Amino acid sequence: MVAPTPVAKALLLLAALCVSSAAAQQQRTLNQAADGCSNTQSGRWFIADDRGMVCPRDSLNYGTGCCTDGEQHACTSCQVDDKCCSQYEYCVSCCLKPENKPEQHMGSLFRGRNKPETGLWSTPFDYCQAVCRTTARSTQHENAFILERRHCFSKLGRPRVPVLPAPPLPPHITMVAGGPGQNCDVACALKQMVCRGEHFVGINDCNSLRAKFMCEAGCGESAPDQTEFPGYLEGSAPKHQRPAFCAFLPPFAPDTAPAFNCTRGNGSVRRLCPCEPLPAAVVAAATQQAAAAEQTAGDSGGVAAKEADGASAGEQQQQQVAAAVLQVEQEQQQQAKNEVVEE
Ligand SMILES: *[C@@H]1O[C@H](CO)[C@@H](O)[C@H](O)[C@H]1NC(C)=O
Ligand SMILES: *[C@@H]1O[C@H](CO)[C@@H](O)[C@H](O)[C@H]1NC(C)=O
Repeated sequence: MVAPTPVAKALLLLAALCVSSAAAQQQRTLNQAADGCSNTQSGRWFIADDRGMVCPRDSLNYGTGCCTDGEQHACTSCQVDDKCCSQYEYCVSCCLKPENKPEQHMGSLFRGRNKPETGLWSTPFDYCQAVCRTTARSTQHENAFILERRHCFSKLGRPRVPVLPAPPLPPHITMVAGGPGQNCDVACALKQMVCRGEHFVGINDCNSLRAKFMCEAGCGESAPDQTEFPGYLEGSAPKHQRPAFCAFLPPFAPDTAPAFNCTRGNGSVRRLCPCEPLPAAVVAAATQQAAAAEQTAGDSGGVAAKEADGASAGEQQQQQVAAAVLQVEQEQQQQAKNEVVEE
């Protein structure tokens, strides 16, 4: 007898796989003919079968359980880098793509996560269905970014940028919608409040944006360096800037500081701002200070000079109040610190 050739070995292995997968597939006889397909069954619009075909429901052959047309190993709605997709069926199809090596990975996932006694998934299709199912991790956060692409076939099982669950907005923080181009220091100061940068994380999402803006053109991520967001682009914004679109800053990794910035304003962006009301005494002091500053500027012709810069008198006044509020606020904080030290 000759030693088995590599081809023969491969055939033996394949036969073994078929036997074990046949057992797993017996439960799904409804969708299977003798040489039929297993499929994802529950999709409302799409079905993926175990050959990696995705098709609309009406292209499914209910006799065989196979897609009669559609696309094989389709990665529509999936992102290459983190292997996360917004459509479950495409996640399964993409996961089955040979270059994603499902046979190799299925040896590393137990049916019950972290429970070796539950055994491994026996076919690439079963494995892919399992990994693509929504993970608890990614449904925790009511965050549009996550909701969009929550089906992942990566080991990590979640979109590449791990998202911190946003802490709830403290009751003393108010969401304020700024005017076009206005920064949050000014937007908050106009309401006799102060911008609290550390609370942006609690309003950096579509739900918060939609509470203040129409977001007619939709809601999605901005570029990471567009720190004038979260905010809304005015309907009158230039076309290339996506008028009527709401944008939020991409979720950040736990170890990286978010780039939220109270002082940035830009063009036709209306910012969403986390503001904290100031104590009445602070407001009174700030108003007084602003009035005094205005007086001085008026006396020296400063307002006229600044107006030539393009800012209206109203804006100048707003900014002065804002600056005064911030200054008084900082002085108070410093005072509080000093008192602590003295005690
Ligand atoms: C915030 O934005 C302002 C105005 O664009 C800029 O001068 C400042 O450097 C920014 N701060 C940070 C921390 O990025
Ligand atoms: C303002 O927004 C425009 C369009 O998004 C961008 O090109 C520009 O760099 C921004 N300016 C600042 C100061 O961030």
